[in-house]
Amino acid sequence: MGHPAGQRVVLITGASRGIGAETARILAARGDHVIINYREKLRRAEILADEINAAGGSASTAGADISDEASARTLVETITKEFGRLDVLILNASGGLERNAAPDYAMSINRDAQTRLVELAVPHLPSGSRIVFVTSHQAHFHGRKPVPAEYEPIAASKRAGENALRAMVPTLTTHGITLHTVSGDMIDGTIIVQLLERRNPAAVAARRTQATLPTVAEFATAVADATTSPAESGDTTYVGGPDYLAAHSH
Ligand SMILES: NC(=O)c1ccc[n+]([C@@H]2O[C@H](COP(=O)([O-])OP(=O)(O)OC[C@H]3O[C@@H](n4cnc5c(N)ncnc54)[C@H](OP(=O)(O)O)[C@@H]3O)[C@@H](O)[C@H]2O)c1
Repeated sequence: MGHPAGQRVVLITGASRGIGAETARILAARGDHVIINYREKLRRAEILADEINAAGGSASTAGADISDEASARTLVETITKEFGRLDVLILNASGGLERNAAPDYAMSINRDAQTRLVELAVPHLPSGSRIVFVTSHQAHFHGRKPVPAEYEPIAASKRAGENALRAMVPTLTTHGITLHTVSGDMIDGTIIVQLLERRNPAAVAARRTQATLPTVAEFATAVADATTSPAESGDTTYVGGPDYLAAHSH
């Protein structure tokens, strides 16, 4: 398949844009084969894969709506057929703010889709492999810090997803698989923060008075670093938001 032996095979969910796309660029530059998962934006994912391959990296695309069980199953089957295994699974795709999303969609994508993808992937993750869960401080600290009303269902469901993944750690440990969470403040320049800035400018302004918001490059670097960090399973990397961290150590 053109990827050298020893090269890690990395699946990044929701990598057609934003933080996932930047993480794909970073890991490919470090020598991994990156599989760019997208839900709708095939062209955008292909342009990113072309960019990475042209720069001497190794990337492919894999369309799948991970909130759909059959689609998630096909995604894992297609990857294992092609590559034989998966060394790193980055759970980056997230949702719930989409217009016309069903009321239960946030829980479906942010909790149920995450645990299901892990369950589907586990048989193909060799000992020593890593799962990285990408989340926000608003979700990670949900219940301990107030959240803008429009983000509440997302924060609650992403926290539920994190709890459900953490509950899987003992099982993952028996397979030699580790889980690492990366949590970030609002990330400057992302579409979500741009949308929020339009709908609720006070919420973003309030964050900006606390600290400089991390950039996409900073956050994506932390996600990429989490794939090799020697930390114990269940560990969390925090990016930005010193006021969150001062109040809570976990
Ligand atoms: N933005 C922030 O300020 C911020 C802060 C802290 C943490 N985070 C976390 O970082 C992660 C990425 O955020 P982002 O702002 O970069 O996201 P984004 O710009 O909204 O990108 C979302 C990506 O996920 C894909 N996607 C959406 N629903 C999907 C589904 N059902 N199945 C498969 N792929 C799906 C999209 O693909 P298509 O475009 O092809 O549909 C797109 O590639 C999220 O977990 C988020 O919670 C973000």
